[in-house]
Amino acid sequence: MDQLWTAEIYDWNGVLDPAIQSAAVDALEAGAVVFLPTLRFHVLPVETGLFTPAILGTAKNASFDPSSGKLGGTTVNGSDAARLHEMMERFSAAAAALVDGLFARYRGRLTRGRASFRPAEIAGRKTTWRKDDTRLHVDSFPATPTGGRRILRVFTNVNPDGRARAWRVGDTFDKVASRFAPQLRVPLPGSGHLLALLRVTKSTRTAYDALMLQLHDRMKQDDAFQRESPQTAVDFPASSTWLALTDSVSHAAMSGQYQLEQTLLLPVDAMVHPERSPLRILEKIKGRPLA
Ligand code: SIN
Ligand code: FE
Repeated sequence: MDQLWTAEIYDWNGVLDPAIQSAAVDALEAGAVVFLPTLRFHVLPVETGLFTPAILGTAKNASFDPSSGKLGGTTVNGSDAARLHEMMERFSAAAAALVDGLFARYRGRLTRGRASFRPAEIAGRKTTWRKDDTRLHVDSFPATPTGGRRILRVFTNVNPDGRARAWRVGDTFDKVASRFAPQLRVPLPGSGHLLALLRVTKSTRTAYDALMLQLHDRMKQDDAFQRESPQTAVDFPASSTWLALTDSVSHAAMSGQYQLEQTLLLPVDAMVHPERSPLRILEKIKGRPLA
């Protein structure tokens, strides 16, 4: 499978050819990274002061919730907070417009989640193995279960010094899931409700969510897998944009600084090929419904 599907797009709000739309959705669902090397997010001169890791307190990223308009993970206030808010809101809207134009097929079915701004250098960052995104993994959220919905992410490299964001992209989801399946345990009935009651999670953690968290952890913990499994280095240049279903595309971010990201959630039944979803693949492996 080709790991990158590339298109020349210049406008976040552009109307796209139906042939491009259908090729893009096929590539995305087949597990490719949709790469848009010519799609640049414009940062305003007044926003350049935000480009320092000093805006983060102890958090890894700054976040913006488009439904409440709230910023998180940042220590800035006053006019700097207003500028950060404006930049992230503008990016969040641009990312949503892009997805609407590129994946018209999903129109009305996507939920826009949080956006993040990532001003810290990834290489050499001290962190726990679980949070270490330089190890290959698939995305899964401990506190906000998706209940089987797909995680679609839009990334744009806003590095002002022209530095790339260096990723590794790993093996297909079915290969990775088969490798780790014997280590993945379906949780006891009721345990997902308990986590919600205890407010560990914002909603019930389904068996699917539990298995995906285990898969994320088992992948990151396995040094032989990290070293030896099939993988390709991909550098995303400054001023480029890319999208992927990061719950199935194995990825690791090795180096780079200054990135914007928007998360969207997609129900499995909105996919052209629901059988390619991690939910359906894990259900097949485990032989039971998981969400
Ligand atoms: C990740 O989702 O693992 C990190 C991606 C990035 O920050 O480039
Ligand atoms: Fe990730």
